[in-house]
Amino acid sequence: MSSHDSILRVGMVGYAFMGAAHSQAWRTVNRVFDLPARVRMALVCGRDEPKVAEAADRLGWDGYTTDWRRLVESDEIDVVDICTPGDSHREIALAALAAGKHVLCEKPLANSVAEAREMTEAAARARESGVRAMCGFNYRRVPAVALMRQLVADGRIGEIRHVRATYLQDWIVDPQFPLVWRLQKDRAGSGALGDIGAHIIDLTQYVTGQLVTGVSALTETFVRQRPLVAGSSGLAAQADGNGSATGQVTVDDAAVFVARLDGGALATYEATRFATGRKNALRVEINGSRGSVVFDLERLNELEFLDATRPAAEQGFSRILVTEPDHPYLGAWWPPGHIIGYEHSFTHQARDFVEAVATGADPAPSFADALQVQLVLDAVTRSAERAAWTEVEPALAEASA
Ligand SMILES: NC(=O)c1ccc[n+]([C@@H]2O[C@H](COP(=O)([O-])OP(=O)(O)OC[C@H]3O[C@@H](n4cnc5c(N)ncnc54)[C@H](O)[C@@H]3O)[C@@H](O)[C@H]2O)c1
Repeated sequence: MSSHDSILRVGMVGYAFMGAAHSQAWRTVNRVFDLPARVRMALVCGRDEPKVAEAADRLGWDGYTTDWRRLVESDEIDVVDICTPGDSHREIALAALAAGKHVLCEKPLANSVAEAREMTEAAARARESGVRAMCGFNYRRVPAVALMRQLVADGRIGEIRHVRATYLQDWIVDPQFPLVWRLQKDRAGSGALGDIGAHIIDLTQYVTGQLVTGVSALTETFVRQRPLVAGSSGLAAQADGNGSATGQVTVDDAAVFVARLDGGALATYEATRFATGRKNALRVEINGSRGSVVFDLERLNELEFLDATRPAAEQGFSRILVTEPDHPYLGAWWPPGHIIGYEHSFTHQARDFVEAVATGADPAPSFADALQVQLVLDAVTRSAERAAWTEVEPALAEASA
């Protein structure tokens, strides 16, 4: 923390989808959780002045700037929150860490292993002077996911044999959907793989405590030419109306892979933007020697649990309603049964980050953890290119699930 003891002044770069989700979290976190520091939403950055001015007002930021370097170097900022596409994560994070700012960076950490490694090394150096860095894998903070991890850690699932993870979307099934930044390799690094595949890689490793060691993958780009984009570049973008102007899609539309985890489990992963009818369907199932557990984001207040140690006649999947005050994060929210939603995962992420920074603890997932996810993404890409089993390059020593 800075000399401004109990105030953490946040500067956020990017104010669209994730910018809005993070703003909501920064605004809410001290109202719900009792924390050793208070957040001040000091500065937001975007490149278009009228738009960033409007966003600052709407999202609740004290001020705005059109130059992220100004934000990063400002003496009025303690934390830099990076909510931009992957092609700018490295540059902004390195500058922020060099300026002694704590960094929260959206996932995937970077567009390549080389960038992620450089960022991880910079974070390790900055840590020596008390600077903290974390990557935003927010699904870890869904209470049912955190409970799933606890059940595994407590041995209730036993020895894990199978991990089955899917993250399914359908927002680009229409070939007329335009060429937004997420479909360009130089901006996004990869397609469904890095965007949503990264989430299920992190989530399964977090829940099981096991790391992916090798993969065999297939990737596909079903629609290779798309209309050039007009206006918004987000998930609800529209084509520019000039039917003849198209550009090349340079990322995967879908990635499927099998994997081995270092604790002996076999895993399957599917990440696609072509699962017609599936909007944001993230599901993870784990089967072990003593039981099974299932998380489905479309029912995020629930966890399905089967206890195989019970008499066979009484066995069956039970639905745990994850809203008890003893469940992770939920003591601060509503009475039991009063459910929460997507946005709460970001408030919980802000809670964990603020607490770590204010108490001088290491937040998780660290940049080293996110580098390890990047190494898995890289192995998947190489495996698909070579049509061969591919080992994941070992991460730095401090990476942990
Ligand atoms: N954790 C999650 O569940 C989740 C969900 C969606 C996106 N993401 C990640 O968040 C990041 C942003 O994605 P998004 O969906 O919010 O994208 P978006 O297109 O909705 O917003 C990107 C924002 O970055 C701004 N921007 C781009 N380049 C900039 C620059 N050089 N300087 C200043 N501002 C710049 C844009 O103006 C826009 O405000 C990506 O890394 C993405 O992978 C994470």
